[in-house]
Amino acid sequence: MAKDVIIACDFSSKEETLKFLDQFTGRRPFVKIGMELFYSAGPEIVKEIKDRGHRIFLDLKCHDIPNTVRKTMAVLSSLDADIVNLHASGTIAMMKAALEGLTREDGKRPLLIAVTQLTSTDQKALEEDLWIHEPMDQVVMHYASNAKKAGLDGVVCSPHEAARVHEVCGNDFLTVTPGVRFADSAADDQRRIMTPGKARLAGSDYIVVGRPVTQAADPVAAYERCLKEFLGEQESETWN
Ligand code: C5P
Repeated sequence: MAKDVIIACDFSSKEETLKFLDQFTGRRPFVKIGMELFYSAGPEIVKEIKDRGHRIFLDLKCHDIPNTVRKTMAVLSSLDADIVNLHASGTIAMMKAALEGLTREDGKRPLLIAVTQLTSTDQKALEEDLWIHEPMDQVVMHYASNAKKAGLDGVVCSPHEAARVHEVCGNDFLTVTPGVRFADSAADDQRRIMTPGKARLAGSDYIVVGRPVTQAADPVAAYERCLKEFLGEQESETWN
């Protein structure tokens, strides 16, 4: 799949989400459905948005024992999302089970990617809360390598880690990167952030952008700005 911008539709109702998407009359954006919307609107929201012509990243971040995740992935596979995900911290066995559950009888399946570390987690939280005493980038690379070993298609990581993930896991291994902010927008609760242009230079395959688009005065203009910066019309920008 070509590089693209994914809008995180973190809304609490179907009505609010469809009203938001109605504003996009031209290009149909790639949409991320997360826990808030999925749990409030139910699984049929996936089909409804898909039928409107959007591709869908179903971001439910599964993490449970392998058998439960295998069966859950079989259910999610039937919803026909384009990308689904889980937490790499659930172990290689859990990721392999997920892949089995996701694969349909005809051998087809959505792409499966793993969350390495949440982009809201910084080194301090990693050490003090999660009790992981290694540098963040090494933890992320270890989790990404585990996902690759399990046969997954890529990871969710910070754009700061995208280039290194490609070095370690190969260029075909997808990097889907939230934690994206315009140079002039608020960081909110995100910690490891980057602008869309810099994320492109860092090698992100997909950027996930929520509040800078959904809360913008003009969401369509904000989305178009993301596309323009990420897909490369600002060549003068340098990374880091
Ligand atoms: O509003 P914002 O741009 O911060 O939204 C980012 C989205 O990406 C949220 O839906 C969040 O759940 C998701 N996400 C993330 N960090 C990860 C994985 C997913 O921020 N590591």
